[in-house]
Amino acid sequence: MLALGIETSCDDTSLALVEDGVLLECLTKSQDQHSGFGGVVPEQASREHAKNLSPLFTGLLEKTGLKACDIGLVAASQGPGLVGALLAGVQFGRGLSLSLNCQYFPVNHLEGHIYSPFLHDAVLPDFPWLILLVSGGHTMLILAKAPFSYRILGGTTDDSVGECFDKVARYLDLGYPGGPAIERLSAGGNSIFRLPRSFLREESYRFSYSGLKTATLKLADDRKTGISDLCASFQEAAIEPLITKTVRACREFHPYSLLVAGGVSANESLRSECLRVSREEGCKLFLPAKKWAMDNAGMVAAAAYHRWKSGAVNPGYRLCVDPGMTLYQP
Ligand code: KG4
Ligand code: ZN
Repeated sequence: MLALGIETSCDDTSLALVEDGVLLECLTKSQDQHSGFGGVVPEQASREHAKNLSPLFTGLLEKTGLKACDIGLVAASQGPGLVGALLAGVQFGRGLSLSLNCQYFPVNHLEGHIYSPFLHDAVLPDFPWLILLVSGGHTMLILAKAPFSYRILGGTTDDSVGECFDKVARYLDLGYPGGPAIERLSAGGNSIFRLPRSFLREESYRFSYSGLKTATLKLADDRKTGISDLCASFQEAAIEPLITKTVRACREFHPYSLLVAGGVSANESLRSECLRVSREEGCKLFLPAKKWAMDNAGMVAAAAYHRWKSGAVNPGYRLCVDPGMTLYQP
């Protein structure tokens, strides 16, 4: 089954072809024109998606040597994300599926991230899965005891961890996205400052990152602080609650598989800490290749493929989008 994935939930236009769950090719066009505004301008993002989708589709077919008529399934992110941006992808995908007379699958972007570790090997591990989903919009621990059935154990009460990396980086003039820049600088520094870790000792799966953000910005104002030490201290404080709560969930739910996904899962310190946890707690770790941790259309096509393969009900041909979409909880 050849699946085309379309991802336009924020500012990247991404199209990918996935054969039986395995990534063949992914083309992504990033939108640089937002950088002067300090954030994504939604209307501009939608217009750029509308402009980029067709040429990317043609480029994808040229690069793979495949024909449009080979595609058996078209999938697009339906939410969460920016409403206009999502609509651009959904309308393009639905139009294409009608003209090709093939199936159309709306995909939950979060479920896309969940399937990103399996883009190079589509054999899914045993359940239960404990999923640490860490991106620019989400910080969640999720338990899946069966395919496509999710129980959200907890999430952030304010900023997401990726957002916190981005806001600290912006304050330090390190550009966007902030995570990679902070990780690079951390490598040359030492974690010498004790920054706040919210809800660390609380018996819950809640996270909070606004306190860490404020404390880091205050520390940055103190000019005596070297930027590498600041970044190293921040990164350690950002990661520790993720690890502490993941260990807690492993001990409570005994997952067979630990999945870590979302843009922040590209972070090497987080990856090695998760590897340590998986060994100590006796579960198998699944991480996306670093390249596929951030938003991409491959994960969208893969999630749709696995739904299709399992015979799960197609969520429907709706042309609407859902900017606040969450995961299905039975
Ligand atoms: O999953 P993603 O591409 O977009 C959302 O769905 O939100 O995640 C983007 C986030 C950004 O906040 C970015 O700073 C963060 O992932 N990120 C990282 C790293 N690479 C990307 N955070 C920490 N360390 C990294 N190496
Ligand atoms: Zn994402």
